[in-house]
Amino acid sequence: MNILIRNTYEEMSRVAAGIIAKLIKAKPNCVLGLATGSTPIGTYKELIRMHKDEGLDFSQVRTFNLDEYLGVGMDLTKPYELDQSYARFMYEEFFKHINIPEENTLVPDGLTSDPDGYCQWYEEQIKAAGGIDLQLLGLGRDGHWGFNEPGSSLASRTRVVPLTQETLDDNYEAFYKKAGISREEMPKFAITMGIGTILEARSALMLVNGEHKADIVAQAIEGPVTSQVTASAMHLYGGDLTIVLDQAAASKLKRVDYYLHAEKAMQEYFDKKQK
Ligand code: GLP
Repeated sequence: MNILIRNTYEEMSRVAAGIIAKLIKAKPNCVLGLATGSTPIGTYKELIRMHKDEGLDFSQVRTFNLDEYLGVGMDLTKPYELDQSYARFMYEEFFKHINIPEENTLVPDGLTSDPDGYCQWYEEQIKAAGGIDLQLLGLGRDGHWGFNEPGSSLASRTRVVPLTQETLDDNYEAFYKKAGISREEMPKFAITMGIGTILEARSALMLVNGEHKADIVAQAIEGPVTSQVTASAMHLYGGDLTIVLDQAAASKLKRVDYYLHAEKAMQEYFDKKQK
């Protein structure tokens, strides 16, 4: 596990975009697992810049999103603020700005008539694509990855989940209130990749910023492995995991000095190896 701590959100986003761009250059037909939320917006912006200024090519890239609310889907006839689907978020914040073919992007279908069957189909699609090369992850305030709320099995697969009150409150404040949508009208369920699904990705990149996440970051990284903080499953992960934090999110970690030392030491180690 590599923990990288950067001063600002912008620096965090640049590092994250650099890691994703490196993979795309090395494997143009790579499979990315993508995330929504405010955290990855800066990373998507930087990747869009790289596409426009440096010709970063997404034409063969395939993507699978982590999650989607049940009961909503992309509706381009509505203004962005009134369409709270993650599909719409991905389209507005990323896909429409790059040269990725629409058929290469898959966000779980929140409008499916058979959610359980769909979840199984989604898992099969990931397998058929050869698995995920890099899974991008944020961190919910309750420690979730995707929508794997506290209590989710650490072996869980893509499935329908009820959202916690805390997540509903966060979403209400972040989106629905502004859009004039009442708490009663908000989606209360989601489709999410499971923790077991996420742990099968060949590499993973978790981004967290802001002081409001400092406590949960410390619990996930330095606390015990527990289904009460589903991101703590990172300690069971066998792939290559990089965590990029801004200073505020890292402010409650006990071993910051070691993480800073480890980053430098590993860089020196790789530089020496390359000579
Ligand atoms: C939602 C998403 C998560 C995301 C989290 C954090 O719950 N399902 O995948 O990581 O929000 O969002 P933000 O980045 O806005 O803090």
